[in-house]
Amino acid sequence: MQAAQQYIKDNQDRFLNELLDLLRIPSVSADPAYKEDVQRTAASVADHLQKAGADNVEIIPTAGHPIVYGEKTIDATLPTVMVYGHYDVQPADPIDLWDSGPFDPVVKKTEAHPQGAIYARGSCDDKGQMFMHVKAFEAMMATNSLPCNIKFMIEGEEEVGSEHLGHFLETHKEKLSCDVILISDTSIIDNDTPSITTGLRGLSYVEVEVVGPNRDLHSGVYGGAVGNPINVLCEMIAGMMDENKHITIPGFYDDVEVVSTEERVEMNKAPFNLEHYQKDLGINAVRGEDGYTTAERTSIRPTLDVNGIWGGYIGEGAKTVLPSKAFAKISMRLVPNQSPDKITELFKAYFESIAPAEVKVEVRPHHGGEPVVTPTDTPEYQAAHQAMEKTFGKAPIPKREGGSIPIVALFESVLGVKSVLMGFGLDSDAIHSPNEHYGLFNYYKGIETIPYYYQYYTALKS
Ligand code: BES
Ligand code: MN
Ligand code: MN
Repeated sequence: MQAAQQYIKDNQDRFLNELLDLLRIPSVSADPAYKEDVQRTAASVADHLQKAGADNVEIIPTAGHPIVYGEKTIDATLPTVMVYGHYDVQPADPIDLWDSGPFDPVVKKTEAHPQGAIYARGSCDDKGQMFMHVKAFEAMMATNSLPCNIKFMIEGEEEVGSEHLGHFLETHKEKLSCDVILISDTSIIDNDTPSITTGLRGLSYVEVEVVGPNRDLHSGVYGGAVGNPINVLCEMIAGMMDENKHITIPGFYDDVEVVSTEERVEMNKAPFNLEHYQKDLGINAVRGEDGYTTAERTSIRPTLDVNGIWGGYIGEGAKTVLPSKAFAKISMRLVPNQSPDKITELFKAYFESIAPAEVKVEVRPHHGGEPVVTPTDTPEYQAAHQAMEKTFGKAPIPKREGGSIPIVALFESVLGVKSVLMGFGLDSDAIHSPNEHYGLFNYYKGIETIPYYYQYYTALKS
């Protein structure tokens, strides 16, 4: 183990430069204009895996973006860890809000990252975190200290809902057989407070269309007499939450798991500073469901949020127009035991039922995903606990998080394998946002911690 850690120290500059090169390729999965860049990124990841010592490295095409696979079997009687990550990134828009180019990485010091942070789209989510695993693997291979078997499955469609990965799991169960799936695509509380993610929310995502008159109208000639689809849409959305910030869709909370008082007390012991939280976001107050703390609102409670809304005239100056149509994209974050399909159905039925007679509405479902909660009393989890305790000098806190990684539930239902969510990002790293960044501390801490995971996991399993 000492040798692997020494190797990491000796190669840290190269490890950084290689990540910067990877971040220069704009692997935006949502936009077909970047298709070739996505493929180049897959090729680069495959090349790194191969050079690090992986066998049977493949770039596997799917109906969407390719999956990168690689493996190293040292002894079939030893356990196998499968690393999952994603090399695709979110679109960089709005570009003008970036202080430097989203695909032109720079290292800058910040208050949260006094040792410097890499600014680039994907630096934290998830190229930086995924690449820690490739580099930790390289270090173990180079020092002959990989203690168990390893598989890598790095996909290129996570940010668009992992549309084709489910089918890949179904059709490659044998190839993907393993004992645990190790993922770094989540956060820690802060750099002095390590945590391990023990839950993720699910997701139901819909697009709605509200249609009024058959054409755009003069807002003076017709205004006041004809239903304005934007006004109507706003009213409908506003009515979906009551004064206690409860979602009003009938049946929405029916399956929500009631978390015990003990567990709620426990989760609120994790350090949280409301003042810092508000300051980081530039807000004077938080807002959410009555009766729940911010930690609870972002982990054990479901949400309904408009992610985008449009219609009418948004160009320069003022155009007096009463639009024919209005649209919105709406996400609902789900918790155990809500089902994304059922929630989408409930939303659709409710949205249609509250539409006033003067408009027609349509609800179009997008991708969804099941929520997950991972156990903590397993060797798989305990190995992560021990590894983080070793490298941070502090026991990590289990923490359910608000984001979603839909494939995690499928790992369990299709492959029958549980995941360990050992991420190293910070919530303040601005993932999906302009100026996304990833701390050098976090990048190196991840690379340092991962080899201990393999060591402790193999020991706990034998
Ligand atoms: N890595 C994130 C999810 C995440 C972030 C989990 C922070 C916990 C903490 C992932 O890449 C992501 O953005 N997922 C999407 C899912 C969607 C595209 C289906 C999400 O949560 O919006
Ligand atoms: Mn991610
Ligand atoms: Mn993401």
